[in-house]
Amino acid sequence: MRVVGYAAAVCLALASAAVAQQNVSTAEELDTVMKKASAFRQVDKAIQSNNAADAKAQLAIVKQAVQESQSFWITHKKDDAVKLNKESLAKLDALEKVLSAGSLDVAAATAAFKEAGGSCRACHSQYRAEDANNAYVLKPGTVAGISE
Ligand code: HEC
Repeated sequence: MRVVGYAAAVCLALASAAVAQQNVSTAEELDTVMKKASAFRQVDKAIQSNNAADAKAQLAIVKQAVQESQSFWITHKKDDAVKLNKESLAKLDALEKVLSAGSLDVAAATAAFKEAGGSCRACHSQYRAEDANNAYVLKPGTVAGISE
């Protein structure tokens, strides 16, 4: 009984976290949410200035953006992108762990930052393109019914 009660509590917690998140389904919504992930650059700046607290604050914004964008790939049934999204979140979690250690290890944080950056690029190389005005867009032809 105890285990069941605990599981129910976890489910409730997860459900309320999900409600707080926005469902991203249109290209415009994806654009809006990915723009927030540009805070990633500030994460590196903060690491290089030895400021773990700032780095973590900026990382939280990036993580939320990548987390929110997941519903776009689920909605459009792009399983490979869902996987890339989850891999990216895992790298962001790993970076968060390094930043949460007692004192900031700049070399380790820089390495974890680069790993995380690689996970962003892995998806961008497949799904991101630039339009005629050099603005980032969903790559044409990658998501049925949206980017043709
Ligand atoms: C699963 C795929 C995927 C992952 C993972 C991903 N992105 Fe993106 N990102 C996209 C797509 C698609 C676009 C283009 C959409 C748009 O901007 O209209 C984009 C656009 C962007 C933009 C440009 C926004 C703009 O319009 O100016 C930034 C900045 C960005 N991503 C940062 C990141 C960062 C940082 C990470 C990793 C921490 C990341 N992304 C991970 C798919 C992804």
